[in-house]
Amino acid sequence: MKKITVSAPAKIHLLGEHAVVYGKPALVAAVNLKLTVVVSSNGSKNNSYDLSKIIEPIIKKEFKIKTIPKYKLEISSEIPVGCGMGSSAAVSAAYIAALLLFLNIPWDLDLINKLTYEAEKVFHGNPSGADNSTIVFGGLIWYRKEMPDLKIIQKLNFSIPKKLANNFVLVNTGQPKESTKEMVIKVGNLYKEKPQIVEKFLLEQEKLTRELLFVIKESKEDELIWIIRQGEKNLESIGVASSYVSSIIREIEKLGGAAKICGAGGSTKSTGMLLAYHKDPDKIKEAAKKNNLSCFQVDLGVKGLRVE
Ligand code: PMV
Repeated sequence: MKKITVSAPAKIHLLGEHAVVYGKPALVAAVNLKLTVVVSSNGSKNNSYDLSKIIEPIIKKEFKIKTIPKYKLEISSEIPVGCGMGSSAAVSAAYIAALLLFLNIPWDLDLINKLTYEAEKVFHGNPSGADNSTIVFGGLIWYRKEMPDLKIIQKLNFSIPKKLANNFVLVNTGQPKESTKEMVIKVGNLYKEKPQIVEKFLLEQEKLTRELLFVIKESKEDELIWIIRQGEKNLESIGVASSYVSSIIREIEKLGGAAKICGAGGSTKSTGMLLAYHKDPDKIKEAAKKNNLSCFQVDLGVKGLRVE
C-alpha cells in the first residue's frame, strides 16, 4: 500500500496584511500548529472533500493529465479555520504536495507553492500569495508582490530572538463573520471611495513593516511594542478591526502591551486571532480571561511543509 503523509504549519502576519495586496511588503511567520494530509491507495476513492474539486483540476492542468488514480484522502488539523492563520493555504499546500508525491512527481517546493497559489485564488479571489509562501517555505518570510508573475519571497536568515519570542501570545477572538475575500473587497471599495485613507495606510504600514524587521533582528522590545500599536492603529483606519476587538486591544495596551489583528480581520465582531505582545505575557492571559477569550503561546518561524 502506498501512503504519503505531508504536514503544513499555520502562519501569522507579524505585519503587512492588506497592504501586501497592494504591493507592499509583509513579514509573516510560520507557526507550530500542524495540519496533516494523508493520501493513500488504501480503499476506494474518498471524494467527500469538496477540496478535491479544486485541487485535482489544478494538478491535471499543470501536468496535462486526464485522470488521477484512485486514492483515499485524510485531513486532520490543529489550525483554527478562518481565523487568519492560513488554514486554507495549509490544507491546499499539504494536499497538493501529498498528491504530487502519490503521483511520483518529485518534491519541488517552488512548484507546490505555485499550485497552492492557484488554489488560494479559488478561495480568496485576489490573494497576495504571502500565506501560501510562508506555509510552504516556513521560517520568517519577507514577502512582496511586485507584479502578478513577480513575487519576492525571501526566507530570512535569522529567527526571532528568544527574549522577544517568549512574550508573544495569540488571543482567539473567534471566527469572523466576513471571509478574507469579503474583507479584501471591502478595503478595495474604500480605496475607490476614499483613496487618501488607503494611500496613507499603505505608506505607513510599509514603513512600519521595514522597521519591524530591524527591531526583531536587534531584539528591541520597546520599539516592537510601539510598532505593533501603530500597525494596529493603521489597520483600524481601514475598517478591518471591529470596535469589539479594538476595545480589547485598548485594554492590552493599557496594561503596557500591544496587540493587532492578524490576516484579513473582520468588521462586525470577531476578527480571528490577535497577535499580542507584553514583557509579562501573563498580563495578556489575564486580559483574555477577563474577556472570555482563549489564548495560547506558540513558536514563531517554524519549519514549512514536510513529509512525515
Ligand atoms: O486572513 P488570512 O489568513 O486569509 O490572511 C489574509 C491576508 C490579506 O493580506 C488580507 C490577504 C492576502 O491575500 O494577503
